[in-house]
Amino acid sequence: MPDAPATILIFDSGVGGLTVYREVAAARPDAAYVYVADDAGFPYGNQPEAALIARIIDVVGQAITQHAPDLVVVACNTASTLALADLRARFAVPFVGTVPAIKPACAQSKTKRVAVLGTQATVSREYTRALIREFAAGCDVALVGSPRLASYAEAELGGTPVADAAIKTEIAGCFVDADGRRTDTVVLACTHYPLLTERFKANAPWPVDWLDPAPAIARRVADLLRTRPPGSPPATPRIVFTSGRVPSPALAAALAGYGFSPPPPV
Ligand code: DGL
Repeated sequence: MPDAPATILIFDSGVGGLTVYREVAAARPDAAYVYVADDAGFPYGNQPEAALIARIIDVVGQAITQHAPDLVVVACNTASTLALADLRARFAVPFVGTVPAIKPACAQSKTKRVAVLGTQATVSREYTRALIREFAAGCDVALVGSPRLASYAEAELGGTPVADAAIKTEIAGCFVDADGRRTDTVVLACTHYPLLTERFKANAPWPVDWLDPAPAIARRVADLLRTRPPGSPPATPRIVFTSGRVPSPALAAALAGYGFSPPPPV
């Protein structure tokens, strides 16, 4: 009798969590994956905190009841920096969150000038500021909140790229050149942003390292599931949009590239 695969639930407000999913799936290709995109609530980055916590608990709670995962990855900085503690208090399943990679960024920066690029909500949260107090280690850290990049990433994956000028405007604050030291590392503190890394590189005033935390998240998941034997055969990943939307042909093609078949209409 083959072992049942572990079920991993990946959760985000939209398609950004796919950048985390691809790393986790590479680390545990034998697991069964359910990806929940709460696109009915997108974007999370401009919502009042109390209502957003309630929404996240509701959506994640329903997904836990329905899919009985062995582990939940909150593949969203905006949700993790706000609701991870509440989720852990409420549900017994282990959670892996996604929070700004300030410690590794400051450790690797040679110029000791780093930027954190996230949603306006993530960069203004006490959680993020506490990470800076604890781990900035003599680094100057610029907090850059973007009102639009997550939507740009959704558009890009859906086949509608935005203009270079629009990207330049959103990332401009990351690039600081002062006291003879330039920013050399930018933390991608929103899971949507790695979908735009090539656009960022093409529109940056100088080269920097764009730090994506997804490989570290995948290592954490693999570590938590290390005692779980490989499942076989691997199950086909499933994606659910809370709006019930049927993806456009371009988005369906992009999802197929990640191994998902289009979700059935609900
Ligand atoms: N992907 C989400 C994050 O990592 C945010 C996008 C949104 O504003 O909903 O922060």
